[in-house]
Amino acid sequence: MKVTVVGAGNVGATCANVIAHNELANEVILLDIKEGIAEGKSLDIWQTAPINLYDTRVKGSTNDYAATAGSDVVVITSGLPRKPGMSRDDLIATNAGIVKSVTENIIKYSPNTIIIVVSNPLDVMTYCAYLNSGLDSKKVFGMAGILDTARYRAFLAEALNCSPKDIQAILMGGHGDTMVPLPRYTTVSGIPVTELIAADKLEAIVHRTKVGGGELVNLMGTSAWYAPGAAAAQMVEAIVRDQKRIYPVCAWLQGEYGMKDIYLGVPVKLGKNGIEEIIELQLNDAEKLLLTNSATAVKEVMSVLDNMQTA
Ligand code: NAI
Ligand code: 2OP
Repeated sequence: MKVTVVGAGNVGATCANVIAHNELANEVILLDIKEGIAEGKSLDIWQTAPINLYDTRVKGSTNDYAATAGSDVVVITSGLPRKPGMSRDDLIATNAGIVKSVTENIIKYSPNTIIIVVSNPLDVMTYCAYLNSGLDSKKVFGMAGILDTARYRAFLAEALNCSPKDIQAILMGGHGDTMVPLPRYTTVSGIPVTELIAADKLEAIVHRTKVGGGELVNLMGTSAWYAPGAAAAQMVEAIVRDQKRIYPVCAWLQGEYGMKDIYLGVPVKLGKNGIEEIIELQLNDAEKLLLTNSATAVKEVMSVLDNMQTA
């Protein structure tokens, strides 16, 4: 297996490191446009192999896409991150140009690859990669839901003083403040979370999850990377090991949930073919309304992309 990670910044380097550490591929190519950065970080990661005892070969490349040829999976993390006061949507103009050119270059050398987009604004950058890749939508999708549910699950584990391993949850919608955590589909080892925590505390956790990315931007002056990098690597794992894991993933909807021509976070089954199934939950009216509102917000930003030259 060969995996390419485009963007050797905070998220990309972390993702490559987790992929290597967990031996998810024989070869990982880390590519960046900045001279030397991908080579340097790859060398540093490779030098952890004798310490952490793995075989995965990590190699860096400064914008030479020939090195990525024949990749089974490509993770796109290239682009600007948020600064305090910025929304993810503020990044669209710059990042759309980057994601378009990266996608075109990737496809030249790996025409049948699976693409996982991480760059923000996530739902719309995934749409951008889809438009420019010519791939089936089952092979182009975005990482946000695993990260957002991880935040939700971490907050719950803290509040319940229990292991995060026991918290199962699903979350839908766009990767923004309109995302839809679903308490009705949240359990602690099978026990509905609503039986274990007061409604007001759960509501506060839902709210903190929705603004969880911003909380970190305010603390660090840039956006998060450990959990985002690990989340993208977990998607790579489901694909390269054909695990058929059920994860919230930003996927192209064609009628599911009554929505068409939109990239939105939904539960899917991930395996060697990419998205192997989109799972349709029986949402109640309140949940449907929240999802519709989130879809409206995503559609607005998608139309900005549609009106740009890069689309
Ligand atoms: P960063 O600034 O640390 O790294 C971005 C890297 O992309 C830089 O090294 C830069 O040189 C590179 N780059 C820029 N243009 C390029 C091009 N044309 N080709 C190749 N490389 C290029 O940023 P960070 O923190 O790694 O974030 C990356 C992106 O991921 C941002 O857009 C951020 O908003 C997004 N993000 C998304 C998350 C999600 O849940 N989907 C979570 C965290 C970040
Ligand atoms: C995050 O949620 C900013 O999308 C990035 O951390």
